[in-house]
Amino acid sequence: MSMPSSNFALETIGLNKAFGGLKVTQGVSLSIRPGERRLIIGPNGAGKTTLFNQISGDMRPNSGRIKLFGEDVTMLPPYRRAHRGLSRTYQIITLFAGDTLEHNVTLGLLGLLPSRWQMWRPLSSYRHLATEARRTLDSVGLLHLADHPVSELAYGEKRRVELAMAMSQKPRVLLLDEPLAGLSDSERTTVKSLVASIPKDTTVVMIEHDMDTALDLAETVTLLNYGRVIVDGERDTVIADERTREVYLGA
Ligand SMILES: Nc1ncnc2c1ncn2[C@@H]1O[C@H](COP(=O)(O)OP(=O)(O)OP(=O)(O)O)[C@@H](O)[C@H]1O
Ligand SMILES: [Mg+2]
Repeated sequence: MSMPSSNFALETIGLNKAFGGLKVTQGVSLSIRPGERRLIIGPNGAGKTTLFNQISGDMRPNSGRIKLFGEDVTMLPPYRRAHRGLSRTYQIITLFAGDTLEHNVTLGLLGLLPSRWQMWRPLSSYRHLATEARRTLDSVGLLHLADHPVSELAYGEKRRVELAMAMSQKPRVLLLDEPLAGLSDSERTTVKSLVASIPKDTTVVMIEHDMDTALDLAETVTLLNYGRVIVDGERDTVIADERTREVYLGA
């Protein structure tokens, strides 16, 4: 069997998604190279999260296609995309508040958190999961809280857990939906350096409103507005573009 090959880690080809009469993504085409750091920006309601939902398989597009490393995954459910190396975080954190951090991460590794962490490995590796959960927590400096309930964590610590859980799947493509939202300055610095330390063999696509921080991490930027790609390219070119200022920077 020959594997499809591609110059791109992730391609979306003319993605359309509507809710009722509202067209939320309109012909969105993106080509993202392996290892690239892509920032997706745009006003509230521009369709950024909806685009991620289509890429991850949480939502089916009305039309268009999605390719991961050249393979068409448009019709695949989320867990089969995860098998192929796609991982994501969500804008809203859902961990089991009353349960310990270690147990949450273990469940996450197993694919048992609600609708989010899909099964990606056989149950036979279960006994390794507790060890892996602790290693995951250690990677974000939270091992000392492993036996504490999630309800004791600060918001920024939960975000670090979520990022670590996504990274523990060793994704080839990682989608981050506003990883810095709602964080204090010091939490922001911590999460920013975690994102910066993601190995280059993981392609990172990040939605973020905090431009100061996000632009440091980004190599390329896509601006969405009303579901359409308005500007797309090298970071400095997109930022200097008149349309970016009109739509987003408000200058
Ligand atoms: N399941 C849904 N049903 C109906 N409308 C939806 C649904 N999901 C999103 N929308 C609408 O689609 C539009 C785009 O939503 P989306 O969450 O993709 O925006 P966004 O760019 O991520 O915005 P934000 O910056 O606020 O996170 C919004 O008007 C939203 O209300
Ligand atoms: Mg969003």
